[in-house]
Amino acid sequence: MKQPIIVAIDGFSSSGKSTMARRLAAKTGYRYIDSGAMYRAVALYALEHGMIDDNGQPLADALIAALPHIEIDFVPQADGSQHTMLNGQDVEAEIRRLRVSNVVSPVSAIAQVRKALVSMQKAMGNNRGIVMDGRDIGTVVFPDAELKIFVCSSPETRAQRRLKEMIEKGAAVTYEDVLANIVNRDHIDSTRAESPLRRADDAVDLDNSNMTIAQQDEWLMQQFENALNK
Ligand code: DC
Repeated sequence: MKQPIIVAIDGFSSSGKSTMARRLAAKTGYRYIDSGAMYRAVALYALEHGMIDDNGQPLADALIAALPHIEIDFVPQADGSQHTMLNGQDVEAEIRRLRVSNVVSPVSAIAQVRKALVSMQKAMGNNRGIVMDGRDIGTVVFPDAELKIFVCSSPETRAQRRLKEMIEKGAAVTYEDVLANIVNRDHIDSTRAESPLRRADDAVDLDNSNMTIAQQDEWLMQQFENALNK
């Protein structure tokens, strides 16, 4: 059998990274890790412990002090998906809400938060055989990943997709709210001092604006086979 590899998928928010990463993991039997869910879980912890001020900014010192008390896990579900656990509690639905999306970028810009999560993520890749998606997976977490993908698509396309997902889950949001959140997060994620979203030099680009999920799956599987057989 071929040695298992690491697949790193980076890109802007709502670019479809998680869908493609999850589907590749299911097909290959690899472990899937949504690194954004880990930042979202920390943001939820901050919200629930009064560590977000009236301007939506995290109280960094308090949050850094609390980091040793934040435990994040993923629990596989019968349908093949997995749920994010925060200190033993299933927070999968909660971390996808707009109130978390609105504060997660400044939380993820705190250097010590990144340091703690990056070290957990590196440990998850010890045995390889993993597909991880995020912003800094190919650049910081797994700079030696055998396959790195950088996904992009326009903010409008991403806002439409995200809106559809949120409405399907019963959220009362408007296209304008979702687009504003995406544009704002793009800005914070790509301009922050600590590990900004950046394409790894050896990443393969994918613009999926006009691709179906099936086309995207096929393209990714081809990239996977190429990397595995290198
Ligand atoms: O992929 P997402 O939208 O669920 O990510 C939530 C936030 O977490 C996003 O605003 C940026 C941040 N993030 C990060 O800084 N680094 C990662 N590896 C993954 C996510």
